[in-house]
This record gives sequence, C-alpha cells and structure tokens, in this order.
Amino acid sequence: MKKLVEILTEKLQAGFVRAGYDEKYGCVSVSNRPDLCQYQCNGAMAAAKEYKKAPIAIAEEVTAGLDGEDIFEKIEAVKPGFINITVSGALLAAQAEEMCSGDRLGLEKKEKPETVVIDYGGANVAKPLHVGHLRPAIIGESIKRICRFMGDEVIGDAHLGDWGLQMGLIIHECRQRQPDLPYYKEDFEGEYPEEPPFTMSDLDEIYPYASAKSKEDEEYLQAAQETTFEMQAGHRGYRALWEHILKVSLPDLKKNYDNLNVNFDLWKKESDAMPYIPPMVEKMKEDGVARLSDGALVVDITEEGDKKELPPCLVLKSNGASLYTTTDLATLVEREKMFSPDRIIYVTDKRQQLHFTQVFRTAKKAGIVRPETELIFIGNGTMNGKDGHPFKTRDGGVLRLRALCEQVNDAVYRRIRENRDYSEDEAREISEKVGLAALKYGDLSNQASKDYIFDIERFASFEGNTGPYILYTIVRIKSLLNKYKESGGVLSDSEALLPPLSESETELYLALSKYADAMESAYAELAPHRICQYIYELSEALNHFYHATKILAEEDGARKASYLKLLGLVQRVLEQCIELLGFEAPDRM
Ligand code: ARG
Repeated sequence: MKKLVEILTEKLQAGFVRAGYDEKYGCVSVSNRPDLCQYQCNGAMAAAKEYKKAPIAIAEEVTAGLDGEDIFEKIEAVKPGFINITVSGALLAAQAEEMCSGDRLGLEKKEKPETVVIDYGGANVAKPLHVGHLRPAIIGESIKRICRFMGDEVIGDAHLGDWGLQMGLIIHECRQRQPDLPYYKEDFEGEYPEEPPFTMSDLDEIYPYASAKSKEDEEYLQAAQETTFEMQAGHRGYRALWEHILKVSLPDLKKNYDNLNVNFDLWKKESDAMPYIPPMVEKMKEDGVARLSDGALVVDITEEGDKKELPPCLVLKSNGASLYTTTDLATLVEREKMFSPDRIIYVTDKRQQLHFTQVFRTAKKAGIVRPETELIFIGNGTMNGKDGHPFKTRDGGVLRLRALCEQVNDAVYRRIRENRDYSEDEAREISEKVGLAALKYGDLSNQASKDYIFDIERFASFEGNTGPYILYTIVRIKSLLNKYKESGGVLSDSEALLPPLSESETELYLALSKYADAMESAYAELAPHRICQYIYELSEALNHFYHATKILAEEDGARKASYLKLLGLVQRVLEQCIELLGFEAPDRM
C-alpha cells in the first residue's frame, strides 16, 4: 500500500511540474512544526536557486495549482517559501481502511528477502545466567522478529559459550572436591558413569566459587587453564565431564530463555566450531594471511584509513590453544557452509567491539566469508543501577537473571493488587505478562548502544513511556470492545471508517498512518526502539481520543461503528508491534 508521504509527494511533484519546475522538488516530509501543519514540502526553497526566483513565488504557483484537490484539507505557501500541508479526513480514513484489509496492516514484504543469521544470547554454559546476558537476548530476539516480519529468511542462533575457561574452572574444581572419580584417572579405559556427578544447583555454586578463587590464587588459575586446554585437545575424562555440564545446564538455560519469551532456531555452541578450526588455520597459513608472532598465530588487520593502529587478531595461542576469536572465525566457516547468509548480525555487549572488528576483518581477509557478506555488530550498552554503575545485587554480587525477573514481577504484582480485586493466581499470571513487558520495553525503548538506568518502579509504572502503559492501552481497547459485544453488539469489518470529526480523532488517524514508516525504519536501522517510539505515540493518541470521545454512547450508528473499527485497528497495530518486541498483552490488568 502507498504511504501517506508517498501519495503527497506524488501530488506535489505533479504540482511542481504543472507550474513549470522540476519534479524533484516535490518531496514531502512529516512536518517539524506539527502545531502549524501535518506535512511540509521545502522544495521551493531549493528550486529558487535553480530558477533564480523568490521561493515564496514558486511555492505560491505550486499551491495555486493544487488547491481544490480532495486529498488536502489545506495547502498553503508560507514565507519564506515553505508549503504547509494538512491532509483531508477522507484521505486519512481511506488510508486506515486500506490498513484494515489484508493481514499485514498494509505493509508489504521486502521484494528481495535475504538470508540472515542473528547471533544473540551468547550465554555461557554452566554459568548462571546473569543480567549481562539480558540485553543481547532481548534486543536480538526483537531484531530477529523484525527481520522475519519484513520477509527475510532468519536464523537465530544462541551461540552458547562452552569452550572457554569456565569449563576448565568447573572441571578443576570438581576434581578438588572428588579426586577419586574416574574422569581424572589417566589410565582409565572403561565407560564413564552416565549420571553426572553434580546437579544444576551444584553448578550454580561451583562456578562462582571457582571463578573467585582463580582471581586470588595464581596456581589454581593456571591449573584451570591447563585443564581447559586439555579438554579442548580431547582429554577423554574432561570431555565426559564437559558433556555432563552441557547436559545439566542446557535445560536450565532453555527454561530461562523461555521465560523471557526468547527462542532460538539453533542452539549451537562454540564447541561446534571445533572441526572447522584445523583446516581453517591450515588455509590461513598456506595463503600467507596469518603469520607467527612469538609462536602464536596472528593476522594483521590494520587497514588504510584507520585512525589508530589495531592489534593483530590472535588466531591460535603459542601452545596451540584456541581462543574466543578462533571459535568465532570457525563458526563463520560453518555458517557459510550451512546457510551462505547475506548478513550476519551479532548482538553483544559493546565492550566486545574490538573483538568483532578483529574477527570481521580477519574473516574477510582470509576469505572465510564472501566479500559481499555483511557482518554487523550491534554493541549494546550496559544496564545500570540507580547509582550509574552496572546493575548488581544488594551485596555487590552479579545479579542473576531469574532474581531480576522476580523483582520486576513482584513490583507489577504489588501494583495490580493495589487497586483491583484479582485472585492471587490471576494477579500472578497477569504480573508475569506485564512484568515481561516492563522489563523488555524498559530495555528496548532505549537505543541499543546507550547505557540505561534500570528503575523498577518507573518501568513497572502504568503511566508514561513504559511497557505496562502500552499494555494498558491495548487492554482498554479490548475491554471496550468486549463490553460492546457483551451488550449484543456485533463488530463487522464491512462497516466503513468515516473521516475524523475531532482533533483527537484526526491525531489518531495520523498516528496510524505512520505505521509503515516506523516499521521500515526499525528494520533499516535494526532498531527496535523505533517501534517503541511509535507505539508510545500511537497509545497516547488513542488515550486522548478515548477520553475526548463518547464511543459506546454515540447515537449515530454509522459513526459508532466507525469508532469501533478504528479501535480494532489500533489494537491490531499495537499487538503486531509488541509481538515484534517480544511480549504480549493480557486480557485484563
Ligand atoms: N559468550 C559470550 C560472552 O558471554 C558472548 C558470545 C557472543 N557471540 C559471539 N559469537 N561471540 O561474552
């Protein structure tokens, strides 16, 4: 469907041509003075230079030729040469009518879909999921949904960390605790036990313990590093433990992501890249892309135009151990083989910027991906506490994700119980949905790269630019439409949307007409916050209209039907948008 700005631009272009000017001056944009008009065209100012004429004269000629067109409520030339446009109610209603038909709200899919891999989540096996992994999960999930909605073939990959030091730390600590288990016996040739020697709650305690100890005890750290290396090199017993660790912690991780309504198409892990490492390294050496430096294998990545010199990308340590860069490069080999994607998007903490620059440049230089493959890093900022520092527990520890979600749900629960008489169970159920919206919207409404302050009370508020406010708006529509149905009313799509009567209704129509623009910019910029901005504007418009208008009490049947259809459309738009953000609305709240 054609967007409002497109319709207006076409008209204005024709107007410029009719008045004897080039059509390129007819571009229309949303007004930056909404108090004066809805849309504007500044082409006369630019045309003035080419035609050596006063801009206002050109603007007047153009508007004179367009006056009387039924898509304009008003079109006027104002000094020094702007063309201000107010569209007609009939056009607004027609636009909304078009959105109603079809199941995509008038938004077309991309003509040329691309294959996109999104690498987000990035949780580390055996480490409790903590708030640091919250943002990539929430942002990545939304970007995945947005790309898919626009028509791309999208594969979301969890890319779990299971190959690093945390594994060595756990294995080493387990050995300290139960040295007699067969996993540590060099000459053991039998089958290892099927049952893991630890439970998830053991792991929850073991990792933080071992990690803290390695920071104080140099020898302990070295032993854990050695263990990591041996595990990577194929030590039978360590590999058996590694499998136990995976088996115990994967279901827990999945449950955590499930609770966040975050789902992956692929649950790949760093270790899955292992088979690709030796041939990849071999080829880099053969091609002369990599060189030895103090025994380690490195690739120089500095490019012309760099403002400062970048450190080379370390591909293998001098003892042959692989690193974070190694698995990321080898994972690219695998992705290229499996999907040959047009773009690969990584959503991770922005402090990993250098790592990804190294990986991307090396991958291009070594021909691991094709020259045209787009490698995109979306670095997220930190979620900070009110003190401006990364969010911690009260005693300064790393806050676990589960604990955080509980805090948010509790805050919402208190609010819901405050003024409504829901049963305990119902209030809990509602708080889970609303809590997730509070958490996700609180995050997604910020530009991904910015740090933000996590303020539970504000995020959980039912007023202002919050998730609960958006849900509240949807619930308000749902309950009004339900009330209508309960009193015997029938909602029908065949009713017509009538041109708006009041200012608040006009604003609501205008907000609706910006849906496609909002979606397209969210997609182009891979920026869910664009959708948040949009639904906040739409919700505000809806609530103004709701307060200013007698809807169910309207006596004119056709007018009332139009109001109800309009509300239904707003509900659909809002629900579509929050689905792309990754949460949903309850029926009551
Ligand atoms: N596991 C990593 C971490 O916790 C994040 C992984 C991000 N993705 C990637 N392909 N490197 O920091």
